[in-house]
Amino acid sequence: MKTLTNKRIVLGVSGSIAAYKAPDVVRRLQDLGAEVRAILTQGGAKFITELSLQATSKNKVHNNLWDNEAELSMGHIELAKWADAILIAPASANTIANLSAGKACDLLTNVVLATDAPVLIAPAMNQQMYASSAVKDNLSVLLARNIKLISPEFGEQACGDVGEGRLTEPSKIAKQVSEVFSSTKLTGKKILITLGATIEPIDPVRYLSNHSSGKMGMALARASIEAGAKVTLIYGNVSIPLSEESTNILVGSGEEMHQAVMENIKDQDVFIACAAVSDYRVKNIEKNKIKKENTELTLELIPNKDILVDVCKLKQKPICIGFAAETQNLIENAQNKLKNKGCDAIILNDVSKRDFGFKNDENEVVFLTKKYSQKIEKNSKQIIGRKIIEIIVEKFL
Ligand code: CTP
Repeated sequence: MKTLTNKRIVLGVSGSIAAYKAPDVVRRLQDLGAEVRAILTQGGAKFITELSLQATSKNKVHNNLWDNEAELSMGHIELAKWADAILIAPASANTIANLSAGKACDLLTNVVLATDAPVLIAPAMNQQMYASSAVKDNLSVLLARNIKLISPEFGEQACGDVGEGRLTEPSKIAKQVSEVFSSTKLTGKKILITLGATIEPIDPVRYLSNHSSGKMGMALARASIEAGAKVTLIYGNVSIPLSEESTNILVGSGEEMHQAVMENIKDQDVFIACAAVSDYRVKNIEKNKIKKENTELTLELIPNKDILVDVCKLKQKPICIGFAAETQNLIENAQNKLKNKGCDAIILNDVSKRDFGFKNDENEVVFLTKKYSQKIEKNSKQIIGRKIIEIIVEKFL
């Protein structure tokens, strides 16, 4: 897998002569697997056209905070949430000053204020400007806010000066962006994740199942892999491609998932039960297709074993994290599950909402332990997955 595969990068292009290199930055990010959406500031548009960025990024270029059409579909908040990282290359002295003052004066500054994704800036300007104490002071404010600086290079500049201020080479910029996502927090750790929906056969052509897509489980898998973990996925019915960097074991029914988990749980450091396992299975699965008759049909169901409960009972149990899919009395039900299943944490998932949760690309969850509760606000499942993994590392490892 490439280092930026599945990563969504917002590229801000501001007013510097080096803006002509922005399409090359887009390409180098794409070479590493990223999807790129560009924001072109007014200053940036003096040096490069929207069309060049649109052609290279293959996405509409965003340039206007007050664009009604954009607000409906991909406004500044949506762009801020869409991004896995924001890169400003080139970052002009003016954009750096606006960011340092916390201004919300154009689309780019608004997106930076509204995001919780990592932000990187690659300044490019005349060497005397870059050396000025005003720019240095502004940069130190940004560094203190955890904005990552991709320092400009030393050399001959467009204006004829020689000094530090040239935009760093696009391939080096792309590499520094990819380094934001590599971490060693889970190096040497093994994580087993169940995901997707189980399938309980009724007869050879029919089954009982649920709406789980596997998206949340895959987001957790990706976040664990990014953090250096060795990941095993035990998956049922999913509607998304699985990671190629994990060991993937396909199962059908809840019983099969139970068996596969028990066979693979030894030596795991963390178990995350993200699958929507059917609580019941059909007692007598028909060998042949049930034929239609004009009478009522009753299916007799018997309970499936609870995988999470059984893993929590193991003598040498891993850190066990469960999900609570709820539609009512959310916190109370989740706390009961935390207690009754004996796990270390429960992630409360409100599955009654249409705009996040089941099947959706977005989610909103609460991470609960006996002593602690943290809401993770609505965001892409990818970002929620990373936050969950961060909390697991911080609280348990
Ligand atoms: N779970 C499991 N094995 C089962 C059922 C559930 O491992 N047979 C796990 C799920 O993966 C999840 C947690 O238990 O991590 C809670 O699942 P959920 O469907 O929310 O609750 P249930 O325990 O099934 O209880 P209820 O249906 O009454 O809400």
